[in-house]
Amino acid sequence: MFNLFKKKKEVAKKQTFLPLKVREVVKETADTVSIYFEQPEPYLEYKPGQFLTLVMDFEGKEQRRSYSLCTSPYMDPFPGISVKRVPGGLFSNFLNEKIHPGKTINVLKPLGNFTTDFHSKNQKHFFLVAGGSGITPIMGIMKSVLVNEPNSKVTLLYCSRHEDHIIFKKELDELEHKYADHLKVIHNLSQPTEAWTGLKGRLSSETLKGLVNTAESESEFQTEYFICGPEGILETTLEVLSSLQISSEKIHKESFFSAAAEAAHEAAATAGGLTRDVTVLLEGEEHLVTVTPDKTILEAGLDQNLNMPFSCQSGLCTACRGKLISGEVKMDEDSGLSQNEIDAGYVLCCVGRPMTDDVKVRIE
Ligand SMILES: Cc1cc2nc3c(=O)[nH]c(=O)nc-3n(C[C@H](O)[C@H](O)[C@H](O)COP(=O)(O)OP(=O)(O)OC[C@H]3O[C@@H](n4cnc5c(N)ncnc54)[C@H](O)[C@@H]3O)c2cc1C
Ligand code: FES
Repeated sequence: MFNLFKKKKEVAKKQTFLPLKVREVVKETADTVSIYFEQPEPYLEYKPGQFLTLVMDFEGKEQRRSYSLCTSPYMDPFPGISVKRVPGGLFSNFLNEKIHPGKTINVLKPLGNFTTDFHSKNQKHFFLVAGGSGITPIMGIMKSVLVNEPNSKVTLLYCSRHEDHIIFKKELDELEHKYADHLKVIHNLSQPTEAWTGLKGRLSSETLKGLVNTAESESEFQTEYFICGPEGILETTLEVLSSLQISSEKIHKESFFSAAAEAAHEAAATAGGLTRDVTVLLEGEEHLVTVTPDKTILEAGLDQNLNMPFSCQSGLCTACRGKLISGEVKMDEDSGLSQNEIDAGYVLCCVGRPMTDDVKVRIE
């Protein structure tokens, strides 16, 4: 009986993985590759700006990392991701060095809320701000606007370090040429060569304010903002938009790596917090999970071999969402949940820590 149950669970787990075969690997810059996949059968359905979570084994341990789709389902025949190396990083270095056409990678279905709906009658102005590898979801969104909304306009502010670090430079030039009346690309380089005549230096609030004011005054349409990049660019942009009293409903943001969440993680580990037992209700069964101060509920559950669902591990996608039945849970990051969900008692286990001894979470 036990074995039968176990087998059922294993089958269910396997079904959630989608094997994608690598079709092409393109070296974008010295430290970034784009990986394009063959279309699976049936075709991969995704919204521009969503991400795939790659699942791979390293030294016998399953690991997952999320990568935004840089392609548009409306324009690109094959789905693709772009991966920038992180010093010492497990996945990013492996994908930059070892991936080749023909290899198969397991992924989880596309997820994420950093997206929008497109309509051929829309008349909008999209102000997109990207930094480094943050261009990936922005690229998918931008291409989808250009191909679907002939009356909308796009301004892209893209921050890179150096001329040689601009990801998709050729494609961006081609798109700007093809959609000359609809797309304006502004590059900002923090460490350019002397020959660079465009914006340079660290993106300042004043520069950004000037660009937003100009874009808003020149555009006859409502502006929507999409921001994806390192913490610094994200914070500066959000501060500027807030100072200009841009409604938060018009602002969409995505962060690949939250230094704040990482700091909260470290602080929790060193603050002498308490180890607490948490009851996790999963597929109708109760499991007692011991959560030490340096772990989230998801991390502790996975350590105890619980088959808990998860994807981004960053509080963005809600794949690990649970309903709090009792107790109190503190989240390092909650941007994946709506206020209604938070009010209804939902928590994200990948960033959730028990604050009381009676925490019971039902995974939904
Ligand atoms: C929703 C989502 C979408 C993403 N999309 C992309 C994408 O399109 N392209 C892309 O290149 N990356 C993307 N990322 C980041 C990616 O998931 C990995 O975090 C990144 O590739 C590092 O993984 P790693 O295994 O190489 O490093 P790890 O082995 O996990 O970490 C090594 C070290 O680097 C630090 N670190 C981890 N991630 C980052 C980071 N992003 N920046 C700076 N330091 C970091 C860690 O704290 C650690 O010290 C995305 C992340 C999320 C959550
Ligand atoms: S795994 Fe994505 S929000 Fe927790």
